[in-house]
Amino acid sequence: MKLLLENIKELVQVEDEPVAFRAGKEMAKVNTIKNAFLIISDELIQEFGPMENLKDAYCDDDLLVEIDCSNRMVYPSYCDSHTHIVFPGSREKEFVDRIKGLSYEEIARRGGGILNSAKLMQEKTEEELYNDAMNRILEIMKSGTGAVEIKSGYGLTTESEIKMLKVIKWIKETAPVCVRSTFLGAHAIPAEYKNNPSKYVDLVINEMIPQVAAEELADFIDVFCDQGFFSVEDTERILMAGIKHGLRPKIHANELGLTGGVQAGVKYNALSVDHLEHMGEAEFKALKGTETMPTVLPGAAFFLNMKLSPVREMIEAGLPVAMASDYNPGSSPSGNMNFISSLGCIKYNMLPEEVINATTLNSAYAMGISDRLGTIARGKTANLFVTSDMPGIEYLPYRFAADLIETVILNGEIQNF
Ligand code: NIG
Ligand code: FE
Repeated sequence: MKLLLENIKELVQVEDEPVAFRAGKEMAKVNTIKNAFLIISDELIQEFGPMENLKDAYCDDDLLVEIDCSNRMVYPSYCDSHTHIVFPGSREKEFVDRIKGLSYEEIARRGGGILNSAKLMQEKTEEELYNDAMNRILEIMKSGTGAVEIKSGYGLTTESEIKMLKVIKWIKETAPVCVRSTFLGAHAIPAEYKNNPSKYVDLVINEMIPQVAAEELADFIDVFCDQGFFSVEDTERILMAGIKHGLRPKIHANELGLTGGVQAGVKYNALSVDHLEHMGEAEFKALKGTETMPTVLPGAAFFLNMKLSPVREMIEAGLPVAMASDYNPGSSPSGNMNFISSLGCIKYNMLPEEVINATTLNSAYAMGISDRLGTIARGKTANLFVTSDMPGIEYLPYRFAADLIETVILNGEIQNF
């Protein structure tokens, strides 16, 4: 079965030559083709180009379904490289507590926050978790996401962490989006280990990681390396154990302070270090020229009214930047990457082109899938979205909170929502 998208006003983020990611000034570069066609064969992008080349691109006897994309733009799906969308319940009470003046850290210290979710997690069945998470998957698919990384980390016991990871695996096997799974046993220190956090770290290392690896339940390992959570020393111990079991690090770092998380991530060749609200000279230096993708999470900074990551300085310093939603019940209860794109432009002063690279190519790299997703390229998986009538690429982030996505194609199939 073939699909032909024709008369596309502008085909966006076309790969001219394969690149792993774009950094610094290159981030302002996005290739597009005006008045374009694109052919999908089974689940892959087969061919594309300007409309005048369409005749040569396929034989007349190919069975084609044609979609007229006049006035419409076509983008590669967003790759959301950092989420926690398997969770046991919302936390709007804490939202109100924060309106009344409590901080995110204060709520966590009082046993709310992540620990609150971990308590709820104990009562949930895999089926309940799966059904709720699949509703969220549907929600993000509608807003243009075609790949998502999902973390555990609301279990905090071996049994509960494994339960979460099994749910993520189930989503991976059944959802049309591409899913990557991350083990985040070190997301918070459970109350019973409060006075002896290294005992909990021992549990993560000696019991959880071997079991996660033996059952092949995760692609990556994460640690919340920050003030009031896990120290650099604990983080390094956990990352070393994870690496020994084949899990590449992708860590939460520098959200709450200059805590050394970035340096620890780089030291262990993390695929990404995420949050980065606090960035000093040492962090910039540590990241430069490495294979670690600096990832910012504008939804969390917006929702918690936090200090913003210095994205302009990062790009000016020649670093790459990826952006993800951090969809979770505590610090970012939204997975809408269109809104993340708008925040990139409005709050972080990024150009629309920089935002496109941060949410497609660079975020695909940050979840280890840039060889098959993140750009429009021959042979890549046909995960795309078609917008409604739009004047140009600036329009999508400009129209913040608007729904401009008309058609979603995943694995070469039009999604009927
Ligand atoms: O990425 N920072 C740590 N973890 C999540 C928040 C999780 C929660 O509050 O439930 C984050 O923001
Ligand atoms: Fe997170």
